[in-house]
Amino acid sequence: MDPAGTDPELAAAARAAAAASYSPYSGFAVGAAVRWADGGVSTGTNVENASHPLAVCAERNAVAAGVGRGWRRIAAVAVWADVAGVVSPCGGCRQVLAEFAPDPGAVVVHLLGRERAETVTLAELLPRAFGPPPGLRRGSRG
Ligand code: THU
Repeated sequence: MDPAGTDPELAAAARAAAAASYSPYSGFAVGAAVRWADGGVSTGTNVENASHPLAVCAERNAVAAGVGRGWRRIAAVAVWADVAGVVSPCGGCRQVLAEFAPDPGAVVVHLLGRERAETVTLAELLPRAFGPPPGLRRGSRG
């Protein structure tokens, strides 16, 4: 991480991922990169569909790419879009990120735009996240 609190490598990966966005309906390209505590870096971009609700966000695709490689613990996330301010993950993606963040206060999320960057924690983005009910403990099945 640099002194400003951003993570240039992760930010560059998020930005590069956005270049492959399939977003012909919204025209809004998003890129995400996840750094895993138990792995490397995975990336994703948003993939839309003619049936609009089937669109999958960049963050969720980045998480799925890492989970598919066997990684389970998120350390940091970067999200990039070509906006004047910064882009921030939707509510559904926050919950999906929380699934792989046993300590959400320790997961940094870099919100990035053309000229601006803000760094927050996942706990700030999703306070009091829903967790698995007792008896369905996280990690009990792989
Ligand atoms: N989108 C993302 O990929 N990530 C976000 O954080 C916000 C929204 C996508 C979904 C859809 O393809 C487009 O941006 C417009 O909502």
